[in-house]
Formats: sequence, C-alpha cells, structure tokens
Amino acid sequence: MKEDSGKEISALAALLAQDEFRTSQELDRKTQDLVFDRRTLTAIYEVLKKSGISHIDYPISSGKESVVFKAYREEKPLVMKIFKMSTLKFQNIRQYIEGDYRFSNERPGKSRFIYLWSKKEFSNLEALQEAGVPAPKPIMFHKNVILMSYIGTARSPAPQLRDADYDAEDVYGQIRTMIRAMYRKAAIVHADLSEYNILYHRKKAYFIDLAQGVSIKHPSAEAFLRRDIKNITNYFIRKGIKADEEKLFKFVTGK
Ligand SMILES: Nc1ncnc2c1ncn2[C@@H]1O[C@H](COP(=O)(O)OP(=O)(O)OP(=O)(O)O)[C@@H](O)[C@H]1O
Ligand SMILES: [Mg+2]
Repeated sequence: MKEDSGKEISALAALLAQDEFRTSQELDRKTQDLVFDRRTLTAIYEVLKKSGISHIDYPISSGKESVVFKAYREEKPLVMKIFKMSTLKFQNIRQYIEGDYRFSNERPGKSRFIYLWSKKEFSNLEALQEAGVPAPKPIMFHKNVILMSYIGTARSPAPQLRDADYDAEDVYGQIRTMIRAMYRKAAIVHADLSEYNILYHRKKAYFIDLAQGVSIKHPSAEAFLRRDIKNITNYFIRKGIKADEEKLFKFVTGK
C-alpha cells in the first residue's frame, strides 16, 4: 500500500511540475473544469508529504465551498477538508474575520483570506478541544487544507443530526451544554449552528464546520449567538421539545 501511495504522490508532483501549469492565466484556462486549482493541488501535495497520509479515500461531502475527504494515516481514518479557492465567497467570509481580534491584524489578499479561513476553523477546533466540547480533533492545517479526526464507523461517516435517529430530549440537553461550554470556556460562538453542522455518533452530538466561528468579543457575536439559538430552538420545537430561545440564551450567557 505504501508503494502505491508513493506513486500517487509522485504522479501529483509530476503533474504540478508540468509546463502547462506554469502561468496563472494558463492555469485558469486549464483548470476551470477541474475541482481544484493548482495552488490547492500543491497544498494537498504538501499536506500529504508532511502528514504521512498514505492515501485519500472517497469524498464524504462535496459542497459549494469545500470538499471533505476520508483519508488514512497508518491505517487509521481521518478527515481532510479542503476549502475551494474558486468559489469560497470572499465578501461573505470577511465579516467573520474582520471583527475577530484574533485575526483582525492580518491584512490579507484573497488567497491569504482563504488561508486564514482554514486557520480560523483549526483554531476554533483547538478551542473546543480544550474546552471539552465534542468536535473533531484538529490535526494540522496548511493553506486551505485542514486535517481533523474522523467521526463515524468503519463503514460510514456519522450522519448529520437532521438525518439521525435519536432521543430528542437527551440530544437537546447535550447541545445546550455544548453551546454553553463553547461560549463560556472556549469563548467562541459557532455562528452557523444548525442540524446540518452537528453530527450524531454513538449517542453523542459533535459540532462541526467551525470556520465562521467568532470570538465572543466580535461586535456581532451576540447577534450570531442569537441566530444559532434560534435555529436550534426552532429545530427542537419541530421535534416536540419545549425549547425556548430566551431561556437558552440566558442559560448560555448568564445574561
Ligand atoms: N470530522 C468529520 N467526520 C465525519 N464527517 C465529517 C467531518 N467533517 C465534516 N464531515 C462531513 O462533511 C460535511 C461537510 O463538512 P462541513 O460542514 O465542515 O463543510 P461545509 O463548509 O458545510 O461544506 P460546504 O460549504 O461545501 O457545504 C458535513 O456535513 C459532514 O457530513
Ligand atoms: Mg456544513
């Protein structure tokens, strides 16, 4: 298996070294139909070299702004999330970076912004890890690529909460505690929390998709928190739970 993966890596290296990838104009023309641009292919290649990943497996998810792959390192699964340089909406992500003191002294151009976006997801995963909030464990990030632990069984990745079977009362309780610990211990607000960005695995909820998470000091942090709470409350009301936005807000913030 090692030999095969070595071949795959050198095939990618050879592709990158080809003359046809030399200029950026050429590149745009040649790669517009491909999933990844040259910078992303280079970043993936560098991550493979640094991380000791032996092979990339199937894509778990392929959306507008990112592609998530299952990959293997020493026979163990992990997850590689790649932000797409071409479609990530620069204007949309700006508001989450500029008001966040942890990142606001950076004055980036577009590609730098996207690199910051993965750094931000990585830092937020670290903060959750430290605060004991269930979420994938961050492994490394490089440019627009993040490695994190895989949540799921050998057969399949954990389902999103919206597709899972679970005890609503129990999971609502878990999520309340998680939002509170995220706010009070990790000092961040998720800012895109919904039944899509929570995975359910072995009776436990996990927060994922943390790139847009902001410091609680961000000027819009409270508005983002209220939006998260509204999404979660409405979702659990549909599941028959007596959830209440104001009560949850108070439980989380103490305000
Ligand atoms: N660590 C993980 N373990 C298992 N599955 C994962 C993991 N991280 C992400 N996924 C799967 O990949 C999907 C997309 O990941 P995520 O929500 O982080 O990206 P996204 O930014 O929403 O992507 P897009 O913008 O392309 O929709 C998730 O809904 C989940 O099904
Ligand atoms: Mg998502």
